[in-house]
Amino acid sequence: MMTTAAPFRPGDATPTATIRTRFPALRREHRGRPVAYFDGPGGTQVPELVARAVADYLIHHNANTHWRYPTSEETDRLLAQAREAVADLLGAEPGEIVFGANMTTLAFHLGRALGRRWGPGDELVVTELDHHANVAPWRALERERGVTVRSVPLDLETGELDWAALEAALSPRTRLLAIGAASNALGTVSDVGRACALARAAGALSFVDAVHYAPHAVVDVRAIGCDFLACSAYKFYGPHVGVLYGRRDRVEALDAPKLAPAPETAPERLETGTLNHEGIVGAAAAVEFLASLAGGAGGPRRERLGRTFAALHERGQALVQRLWDGLGGIRGVTRYGPPPGRPRTPTVSFTVAGRSSDKVAVALADEAVFVSNGDFYATTVVERLGLASEGLVRAGCACYTTEEEVDRLIEAVGRVAPT
Ligand SMILES: Cc1ncc(COP(=O)(O)O)c(C=O)c1O
Repeated sequence: MMTTAAPFRPGDATPTATIRTRFPALRREHRGRPVAYFDGPGGTQVPELVARAVADYLIHHNANTHWRYPTSEETDRLLAQAREAVADLLGAEPGEIVFGANMTTLAFHLGRALGRRWGPGDELVVTELDHHANVAPWRALERERGVTVRSVPLDLETGELDWAALEAALSPRTRLLAIGAASNALGTVSDVGRACALARAAGALSFVDAVHYAPHAVVDVRAIGCDFLACSAYKFYGPHVGVLYGRRDRVEALDAPKLAPAPETAPERLETGTLNHEGIVGAAAAVEFLASLAGGAGGPRRERLGRTFAALHERGQALVQRLWDGLGGIRGVTRYGPPPGRPRTPTVSFTVAGRSSDKVAVALADEAVFVSNGDFYATTVVERLGLASEGLVRAGCACYTTEEEVDRLIEAVGRVAPT
């Protein structure tokens, strides 16, 4: 008789308590209390397995690439394996994965390469909701190449993009749409599949910033239909390394600044100089870590990643509901971004009346609750909210965040708020 595997339920994934045992940083105390890390949108903590992979590379395999001795061959193999792991994370092919210093550097590099073929009369579309790493590289081409940049407004009521304005901004003159999959300031998740389809229909390329999205949901570059997509391993439990997905034919067609002897083939033609090998090996370990959270059922890595993110999404949405409701019950607290139920990540930004974001962050740190504050380089969002001087307080939930930590955060904010 044929048996079929029982369907996966998010509850089958590794429990949060077990996940926490894998992060040595969670044993840290501050002023006698365990630290609650809500700074994941700025950079998550790292599981021991990732730190060990980095150390193991440096101790046992450290070399430059493409030479004829064991450590160099091992380095080539480890980098190839890392491309496979990250390709699984993004639903891409290993030959479409470019590594670099960080998303910002990769975006500037790509912008410079694309811009060599653009000039006056060409248009680029950016959005007000984006981190400036997905704005400045395209704005730079206004000065350098004379292109025109159009910006899609943020709807302050909903915390979402103005989709009618996005459609209106695209035209046969548009060469590229640059759009974020999730806002690191408001948590808003944008339908980048729809946006890239609109760009394609206008004959434009698309560049997706998935830095804040990739830690929370499975990325599928084919389903999104983007030409380029970037993310950063240090936001998904890895080291400080940037990743760029580039559709192979697009990368091969680029007029990329590079040294003549460096490879002409994709993806290496976009990788300048010697890479951060240990960081890349650590990024692959972070993908393995994520896949390992899927629970016992096994299966190909991409499938396990899908199950992991299904579970993390469900947990994240429960945490965001608790956080949103708890903060909403505190006098003087204003929450920003889409409410729970709308497409969003478990990242909530807020202000406390009469207290600067700096003051709130310091008061919370005193209670061992670590949050980020300011504009997080999502400068236009914060300006549009009229908070350029006070800034936002940002609390981001990660795979290790517990309900008890969310309650500690809410109670600590309650003590800072005016009575
Ligand atoms: C949404 C978003 N995009 C881009 C960046 C820039 O990433 P990187 O530090 O890898 O350059 C960040 C960093 O916080 C981010 O949150």
